[in-house]
Amino acid sequence: MKKIIIINGPNLNLLGVREPSIYGNQSFVKFFETLKENYNHVNLEYFQSNHEGEIIDKIHEVGFSYDGIVLNAGAYTHTSVAIGDAISAIDTPVVEVHISNVHKRESFRHHSYLAAHCTGVICGFGLNSYSLGVQSFLSA
Ligand code: DQA
Repeated sequence: MKKIIIINGPNLNLLGVREPSIYGNQSFVKFFETLKENYNHVNLEYFQSNHEGEIIDKIHEVGFSYDGIVLNAGAYTHTSVAIGDAISAIDTPVVEVHISNVHKRESFRHHSYLAAHCTGVICGFGLNSYSLGVQSFLSA
């Protein structure tokens, strides 16, 4: 059974409450329940932190044994050289995902410090971006 983890960064614990016109009405915990049902042939885990160092620690922890990381680093995507370095340091492939289409938004969201270290980037499909991220590791 493939081992895949979804890692969410800052403010994504507030999904469903936070700016619903951009991020939707559903909490991630609820969405994750459905995702696990749909991918019951996958060992799917979920981790969220608002702290850059904790995200890096988790990437190190899983990055030599898991089959894939689906990473939405939130605003750290646009600021964190350190998370980019962590992705480069590990063996496990990482897919960067975003709920919103960051390219349709403010210009500071157009640049990612992570994308160059990732297998690919998925953005703009709402919570379905995460399903597509998981799917990418299964068809690989
Ligand atoms: C986001 C986009 C980021 O620009 C923003 O800072 C987030 C969420 C998304 O999923 O659309 O926190 O990563």
